[in-house]
Amino acid sequence: MIGLIGGSALTELSGFEDFVFQEKKNFHTPYGASSAPIVLGRIKNQSVAFLPRHGESHQWPPHRINYRANLWSLREAGVKNVLALATVGGISPAFETGVMALPDQLVDYTWGREFTLYDDEQVNGVTHIDFTQPYCQVFRERILQSAQHCGLNVLDHGTYAVTQGPRLETAAEIRRLAHDGADMVGMTGMPETSLARELGLNYATLALVVNAAAGQGVSGKKIDLQAAAQVSRSLVGAALKLFIKMCSDGH
Ligand code: HPA
Repeated sequence: MIGLIGGSALTELSGFEDFVFQEKKNFHTPYGASSAPIVLGRIKNQSVAFLPRHGESHQWPPHRINYRANLWSLREAGVKNVLALATVGGISPAFETGVMALPDQLVDYTWGREFTLYDDEQVNGVTHIDFTQPYCQVFRERILQSAQHCGLNVLDHGTYAVTQGPRLETAAEIRRLAHDGADMVGMTGMPETSLARELGLNYATLALVVNAAAGQGVSGKKIDLQAAAQVSRSLVGAALKLFIKMCSDGH
């Protein structure tokens, strides 16, 4: 089963013609409730589980999302591969507004979030996960192939800086992130990505660049949030086209 985590611009799949709805299901987790019930269904004969990360009415800000319950629930639903949509601000020149990218690295600037399943005294010794490559390379390759099959341009690299939010960054913070090697900035990539690894899920982020980051280009003085929302609506259409192609390609 393939999982789709919807970001800011995608809170539901129903009404979407290729999606055959089966049921909405709440899974019991050790961490409480997920952001919303998991929506189960099919696209092109592929079983799909959808979760709107911010909740059905977009009510959970990035630092309050129950990432542990979300990933746990997807695994309980039977998901193996997770495509996570994320709107981001573009920092380096190739990551201009309107671009879609599959980041291959991240830097975590978040704090105070529940970020691990290995939180208690570990009776069998402390567990560490390898996180050298934070995203599943095999799954990323398949996504890139499907993008090619449906004629969508997706950048095959990039470092995603994950900030705490919910406020946007200062221009100086973005200069610092650029100095740290970041190509894009968003607020929800962590701890989602490392929890997926802890749970053994194959996880990749599809980043949608919806604005120039603070202080960059047209965001020199201010970020136009209305324009960003509009870009994000149109990019979600392209992201869904890619997701359908992945389903029909059997990924
Ligand atoms: N910064 C952080 N998160 C974001 C941005 C941004 O500029 N745009 C969309 N999500």
